[in-house]
Amino acid sequence: MDNTERTLIFNRAKAFVHEAGERIRKKIDDPRTIETKSNRNDLVTEMDQNTEKFFAEKIKEEFPEHLLFGEEGFGDDIKDLTGTVWIVDPIDGTMNFVHQKRNFAISVGIYTDGIGEVGIIYDVMQDVMYTALREGGAYKNGEKLAELTYKKPIEESIIALNTTWLLPENPHIDHIGVGNLVKTIRSTRSYGSAALELVYVAEGVLDGYLTMSLMPWDIAAGRIIIEEVGGIVTTADGLELDMLNRTSMMASHPQIHSGVIEEFVTLKK
Ligand code: IPD
Ligand code: CA
Ligand code: CA
Repeated sequence: MDNTERTLIFNRAKAFVHEAGERIRKKIDDPRTIETKSNRNDLVTEMDQNTEKFFAEKIKEEFPEHLLFGEEGFGDDIKDLTGTVWIVDPIDGTMNFVHQKRNFAISVGIYTDGIGEVGIIYDVMQDVMYTALREGGAYKNGEKLAELTYKKPIEESIIALNTTWLLPENPHIDHIGVGNLVKTIRSTRSYGSAALELVYVAEGVLDGYLTMSLMPWDIAAGRIIIEEVGGIVTTADGLELDMLNRTSMMASHPQIHSGVIEEFVTLKK
């Protein structure tokens, strides 16, 4: 994709995200239709669905040759990342949206033939937009984010972590290793929106985010933004991410990435 085309797509994508965010803010206090999906805590509302429909319509109208890979099923049936694919999470952090009316984001990653070209994450209620273009740096409301080049020992790190991974019965990761990680680092945080946790790593507000179960739309934009500041994003055992299926993830400052994985992560087979 050449620069002119990419800039045009980027500008339109930002406009769509701002418009979608504005619609959500206007209706934030409306009564909600809340349904559950895979389990009783996996929530979806009419706003998640309407926001994804809005992206589907805009993309079809302005970029008919592009495809949409979205969480709520209003996009295309994506089997691979050939062509230009918008990977969209219309509301990341739906539980926060429902319970807190804040701390949720719209996440849009645009990939061409599997390469991340554009990343946009919008903290809707704070009106803060994080953006990145491949090899063009990462920005927060238009201000360039600093590269993650400063010294960062594991002992002085704050890592986002869900308490689920400390439970012995969790099916994904050896909880003793996670316990040792918690005792070693400075502290943990858990914000409930993968997209926001990823941009906080890019911003250096968090030093890492370790999780066992995300979908491509949780990761697509944040990965591009973190990589633009020199951060590393892999599976929790250090492998290349699969952008089509559910995956574990370790996203972090480059200086702690391999240390955390080698010393503290043992995945269950
Ligand atoms: C969820 C959030 C949450 C993460 C879950 C995701 P959703 O996305 O990002 O922080 O722990 O794995 O599914 O369902 O609110 O879009
Ligand atoms: Ca999500
Ligand atoms: Ca979502």
